Amino acid sequence: MLPDKQKFIVFIVLCIVFLSYSGFLYSHLPVSNPNFSITEAKGKTLWQKHNCTACHQIYGLGGYLGPDLTNEYSLKGSDFIHIFLQTGNTTMPNYHFSETEIQELNAYLKSVDLSGKSDPRKFSINTNGTINQ
Ligand code: HEC
Repeated sequence: MLPDKQKFIVFIVLCIVFLSYSGFLYSHLPVSNPNFSITEAKGKTLWQKHNCTACHQIYGLGGYLGPDLTNEYSLKGSDFIHIFLQTGNTTMPNYHFSETEIQELNAYLKSVDLSGKSDPRKFSINTNGTINQ
């Protein structure tokens, strides 16, 4: 067994290593900070007001009745989202959004799409524990 003084030194060294490594990781996160435009912010408000998260996920968080919409914009495109929100279907309610509201939701989904990829199966892990998307 180590004497108490050496245990304390080991503890301090581990704390310094932990804090340095955490600081390094957080300053190198591959996630961009979203600066919403007014249109995107309105889309986000609509998203929250109509509780789209009850059935859809963003980054895997949310309900599972509908698909994850994180990368819907790049996968299906703006026109698809536009038409889908106009009509809905048998399992997705038609909210009777106005043209402006659909554009705002579309802009919000575009900004979410630009924030990163949601499917972790396509990520590669770096030796320092960070990921490449
Ligand atoms: C009651 C549950 C429910 C709610 C609430 C809901 N959705 Fe959906 N949504 C679904 C389901 C289920 C589908 C899949 C429909 C299908 O593929 O037949 C879907 C599909 C979609 C799609 C097309 C996805 C694709 O790739 O096929 C978009 C876009 C979408 N929803 C946007 C929204 C938005 C925006 C809101 C909030 C305003 C919302 N949804 C709220 C259930 C819901």
